[in-house]
Amino acid sequence: MAYYRSVGVVPRTRHTAFRDPSTGSGRSGPLRYEELMGEEGFSSDSTLLYHVGVPSAVVDSQVWDLPDLSTTPNHPLKPRHLKLHDLAAPGSTDVRVDAVTGRRLVMGNGDVRISYVLADEVSPYYRNAVGDECVYVESGRGTVETVFGVVSYRTGDYVVIPRATTHRWLPGEPSRLYAIEANSHIAPPKRYLSKYGQLLEHAPYCERDLHGPAEPLVETGTDVEVLVKHRGNGPSGLVGTRMTYATHPLDVVGWDGCLYAYTFNVEDFMPITGKIHQPPPVHQVFEGQNFVVCNFCPRKVDYHEGSIPVPYYHSNVDSDEVMFYVGGDYEARKGSGIGIGSISLHPGGFAHGPQPSAIEASIGVEYFDELAVMVDTFRPLELGEAGLAVEDPAYAWTWAGRGPSTDTSDGDGTAVFSNS
Ligand SMILES: [Fe+2]
Repeated sequence: MAYYRSVGVVPRTRHTAFRDPSTGSGRSGPLRYEELMGEEGFSSDSTLLYHVGVPSAVVDSQVWDLPDLSTTPNHPLKPRHLKLHDLAAPGSTDVRVDAVTGRRLVMGNGDVRISYVLADEVSPYYRNAVGDECVYVESGRGTVETVFGVVSYRTGDYVVIPRATTHRWLPGEPSRLYAIEANSHIAPPKRYLSKYGQLLEHAPYCERDLHGPAEPLVETGTDVEVLVKHRGNGPSGLVGTRMTYATHPLDVVGWDGCLYAYTFNVEDFMPITGKIHQPPPVHQVFEGQNFVVCNFCPRKVDYHEGSIPVPYYHSNVDSDEVMFYVGGDYEARKGSGIGIGSISLHPGGFAHGPQPSAIEASIGVEYFDELAVMVDTFRPLELGEAGLAVEDPAYAWTWAGRGPSTDTSDGDGTAVFSNS
């Protein structure tokens, strides 16, 4: 996290006796239990939290079987179109789904996983000990209760939750959540930060746009279960454990530091535009190890008299590109069958760009009403079970206007090409 924050009550001096002032005299009340939550072995951002109970007091530990995290290589190589809204429709089932156990894996690799869920139920307490999470709220609103306090979320928010933050999701209405789970940390791009971590003037957002908890959340209770996703030797390299705590883990009366959960709304991203087409890095909002997160927001576009506002064809020689289309009408994908709720995967080793008709149509256009979230990864992405379940097999052939000339079926006699 980029900057210091202090919430609730903390002692004047760190690592000194800090007692509950409401019982006994100031020198005889029960001690608070100090926990340092820090990154990179005491060498990066950290926060000091003060618990009512002992944060390590567990009374049970059982296996938590994670959802299906198996993946299938994108082979034979082709661009993919996945229709995430086909995964879940509001009211389509009586089963209530929560934002943690209901996630379904769309795609992933050894650095990052992308999952999707339409959540309408309070989740279990949960922490991801594998990496930071950046959950984009496609639609919905609610709150996330964390060990740092409560953050509210709404449509267009990125909810950034540091590794090992105990929390739970409480949708105030059905919420479509696009979960980007890193195996690393997720932070603003380094080039936008001063050497001391402040967002610089040329950054497309600033600290005022980041919203952390405003006050502590002090829960009480005993034998509280927390689902922990952590590193292991399973097929995905991930395993789960259900830990039971003697006292409530969300019992922090105060904390201070630079590591905490926060939200950033895509509306507060100030697009960087130019006289001619600007490359994807100007749309970057976060980065993790071996991947970046960008957003393409509604914006005025290029003002050179001969400019072509949609992108030129480009080869991602070092990365796979995942676009999630969440608002407006994405100019470069017109004619492809892609709509709101779609994902496109354009892998490395394949030059991609606009559908041909979109190029001519964009000339002279002054404003793009489009909203999309992009994840670019430096290692190839594989498809999860949810991604495979909602693929539009015609997409790969939409630039050419026709599919395979010798075999127009997907193997079961179903035509796979429709000229959308
Ligand atoms: Fe691209």
